[in-house]
Amino acid sequence: MIKHLLSINQLSREQVMRILDTAESFREVGTRVIKKVPALRGRTVVNLFYENSTRTRISFELAAKRLSADVINFSTSGSSVSKGESLKDTALTLQAMGADAIVMRHSSSGAPHTLTKWVHASVLNAGDGTHEHPTQALLDLFTIREHFPSFEGLRMAIVGDVRHSRVARSLTLATVKMGGDVTLVGPPTLIPPQAEQWGAHISYDLDEVLPKLDVCYMLRVQRERQRQQYFPSVREYSRRWGLSPARVRAMPEEALVMHPGPMNRGVEIASDVADLPRAVITDQVTNGIAVRMSLLYLMLGGDASKTAPQERAAEPERTAEPDQPELQPEAQPEGLRLPQTEGASRG
Ligand code: NCD
Repeated sequence: MIKHLLSINQLSREQVMRILDTAESFREVGTRVIKKVPALRGRTVVNLFYENSTRTRISFELAAKRLSADVINFSTSGSSVSKGESLKDTALTLQAMGADAIVMRHSSSGAPHTLTKWVHASVLNAGDGTHEHPTQALLDLFTIREHFPSFEGLRMAIVGDVRHSRVARSLTLATVKMGGDVTLVGPPTLIPPQAEQWGAHISYDLDEVLPKLDVCYMLRVQRERQRQQYFPSVREYSRRWGLSPARVRAMPEEALVMHPGPMNRGVEIASDVADLPRAVITDQVTNGIAVRMSLLYLMLGGDASKTAPQERAAEPERTAEPDQPELQPEAQPEGLRLPQTEGASRG
């Protein structure tokens, strides 16, 4: 597996499938009473967040904790960054403390890439500026796969503020890579001209696109990134680009509504639409944990040449209770199987 995850472009189709299949095995862990496996015990994961985040930071934190890694949450307020420390010095400090993985969110595109030059740890991009958000795209594919058996020919529209959305770029690249067909929809001011190079079609007419969709993916209007007026008013935006109940009725019955969160109810998505059964927005959140477990596991622990799984496997202590089995043998990702030890029989 790759050492760093900075962009969807780094992944082959086969690697995407491996990440999703491994996430499938980890999903079951989240349904247990004790939601833990010892796969990354002794490893340290740092969440380095220079931008506000709720779901992505908590999701990575839970993913690392469910793999028994030690997790440090580092945010700019209340840290030496607010005293003027440079990114490089923060990176060197985390390196000196023995971080094995650094999950980074930053308002500048390319910041995680820069980080890789200073640290030995694996770097995972948790959203950089308007560039990419690869783990979001992977959890979205995972959620879609629960409803559609194949990505081949999947018809997806990504609607709204494409210009400022790192989610739109990563999800387009990922869906096109897997054989899907993506149309970017929104006001011309919010669709960047280079978007066609991502392999997507472009449309400025949401109503024309809706009847031909398997997935309608709504984007938040990213006001914090907008430097000018891109549309006349929120009301006008909502009327032309918002997903209303009437627009949902124009979609095929089995089509999904998705949103990466946080939502602006009443702007890009009507509140009633966000609560429909076909709106799988909370499933996206749940699946994010399994997908991030899969990535951390594959990047830190799954590669026998990078870690010493034999050493870890020889450790006698078990974290799971006897009636809380490890992943079922048939569902276990390779390298996760620990030997039976005395007093720790599998249930
Ligand atoms: C997205 C982000 O931060 O890029 N949110 C997320 O990670 N779930 C999308 C957004 O902020 O609108």
